[in-house]
Amino acid sequence: MIIAIDGPAASGKGTLGKRLAAHYGYRHLDTGVIYRAVAKAMLDLGADLADEARAVSVAMELDPEKFGHPALKSQAVGDAASVISAIPRVREVLVSFQRQFAADPPGAVLDGRDIGTVICPDADVKIFVVADPQIRARRRTLEARARGEDADEAQVLADILRRDERDRNRAAAPLKAAPDAHLLDNSHLDIESGVRAAIDIVEAVRAGRQRV
Ligand code: DC
Repeated sequence: MIIAIDGPAASGKGTLGKRLAAHYGYRHLDTGVIYRAVAKAMLDLGADLADEARAVSVAMELDPEKFGHPALKSQAVGDAASVISAIPRVREVLVSFQRQFAADPPGAVLDGRDIGTVICPDADVKIFVVADPQIRARRRTLEARARGEDADEAQVLADILRRDERDRNRAAAPLKAAPDAHLLDNSHLDIESGVRAAIDIVEAVRAGRQRV
């Protein structure tokens, strides 16, 4: 089974993806880290983020072993990832890695922006996670502070809104819910209730399928 989870920045989709994968014994891919890894490599090289040829060659040489690097989580890298992820050729280079990950047994949960629409349009279950921007900013600020980083909530909110705008309005694979996605608004759910709600969606889809 393939479960696709999409949603905007800091919506909690990553945590949901990880928890759903653990629940079902599937592998999990946070696809944001792929774009973050390309962005970090570009920043480290001092490259211009708009340099398409450079970004494409960086994307072709990505090392998945480095996807766990803690520096990938920073605001600056996330913002740069939003910029380079709008380059269609960068996205194309990264498609096959994601599809292969999804196809390998026993099943997979992928979270990102375009999993249900572009990467895995035939996913068994699609969940589109949303949450109020103010609430996302508050959660992201608390997470950053817990990691010992300085974080100004107003600035985090501004970053989230800018990123939402860019991710939604780009021409290549914009952030949007697939027509067959199930909406999950976790603005007022804690992590456990959000995970429960996601499992309920998966189970309802499975049950519906068995009846046919
Ligand atoms: O989910 P995240 O904050 O780690 O994602 C960082 C950026 O990467 C996001 O602003 C847009 C891009 N991204 C994307 O274009 N497609 C994906 N499937 C995942 C992330």
